[in-house]
Amino acid sequence: MGEPLPKLSRIPEGILNPAGYLPFAKERLLPEIWRYLKEGSGNQSTLQANERVFDHIPLIPRPLADVRGSHTRITLFGQTLAHPIILAPLAYQRLYHPHGESASAMAAAAQEGQLCVSSLASQTLEEIITAAGQPLWFQLYWQEDRPRTLKLLQRAIAADYRAIVFTVDAPVKQATIQLPAGIHAVNLETPPPFPSLLPQQSQVFDGWMAQAPCWEDLAWLREQTTLPLLVKGILHPQDAAKVVELGCDGLVVSNHGGRVLDGAPTSLACLPEIVSAVSGRGKVLLDSGIRNGRDVYKALALGADAVLIGRPYIWGLATAGALGVAHVIRLLRDELEMTMALTGAANISEITGQTQS
Ligand code: FNR
Repeated sequence: MGEPLPKLSRIPEGILNPAGYLPFAKERLLPEIWRYLKEGSGNQSTLQANERVFDHIPLIPRPLADVRGSHTRITLFGQTLAHPIILAPLAYQRLYHPHGESASAMAAAAQEGQLCVSSLASQTLEEIITAAGQPLWFQLYWQEDRPRTLKLLQRAIAADYRAIVFTVDAPVKQATIQLPAGIHAVNLETPPPFPSLLPQQSQVFDGWMAQAPCWEDLAWLREQTTLPLLVKGILHPQDAAKVVELGCDGLVVSNHGGRVLDGAPTSLACLPEIVSAVSGRGKVLLDSGIRNGRDVYKALALGADAVLIGRPYIWGLATAGALGVAHVIRLLRDELEMTMALTGAANISEITGQTQS
């Protein structure tokens, strides 16, 4: 196995969809980093189902509709986005390109979209937002206790992050990669020592989960900020209802890209029931498995207000930095527009059947 190929300073020719970036990204990453990006948990069954599930949703052509002047714009939490494709929080982006999260931020801004920056970002929150030249969203991981969590939240707010996405589906942090020297979660403080356990205690229940958030902590978090607060990693309609009843502004239906609980259902399969449980009381976003613009359309058609993409934009990042990420977003937008044209949808609310606000 040779050294990874150098990054490109232009977008490769002949790429027709995000998957076209796969071979380019693979040959530009060390094998262990490629594996870390690609893999799911357990038997990979949720990971595999995530991509397949979209194929089972038919698209009905509606020819002859006049779609001149149509667009993909949405308004989300007061911000107008040119399209409903948000870049999901992905940890340690300097693993994939030296420009890391800043490159993704620039690309999101260039495509008039949005990036949600991970708590595990490998560049400072301040430098990422400077690169974007626009406010961004911040993904919050619980930091063992309330004071430490509040400190991180306040830093993000001070740096002009405008929405908080609280990820709750990965309470047990399993390090599946040995980070190279110089790449780490630069915005986090050193965690407190792992609680020392008595012989009869469980490492899971009394160790890891003793530092994980509960519903009371979500209620507390809601009181700490007036920014839009979304909860990421919801798959059960009762949990979705509880999230909005606690005053959160929305949620992300997600199985974390198949990386946490193998056997979890696909986000798409859970979406309709969640949309009905939320019943307009908050925004419903979806991620996990979106690979092309038709997938975006299908998620919207089943009731999502917007989607997040994970791995596909990292394929662009690993290949050609900001240019690659911007191109992946553009490809998805083009495919979404084409699907809208062929199905006679003149704007996003004609897909969702809902009024965007
Ligand atoms: C993630 N994801 C994630 N989520 C989060 O809230 N904080 C994080 O730091 C990370 N880090 C992360 C790293 C890697 C390598 C992957 C692949 C994923 C999950 C991510 O936000 C999103 O939910 C999934 O990636 C969506 O699935 P697809 O689009 O990758 O199939």
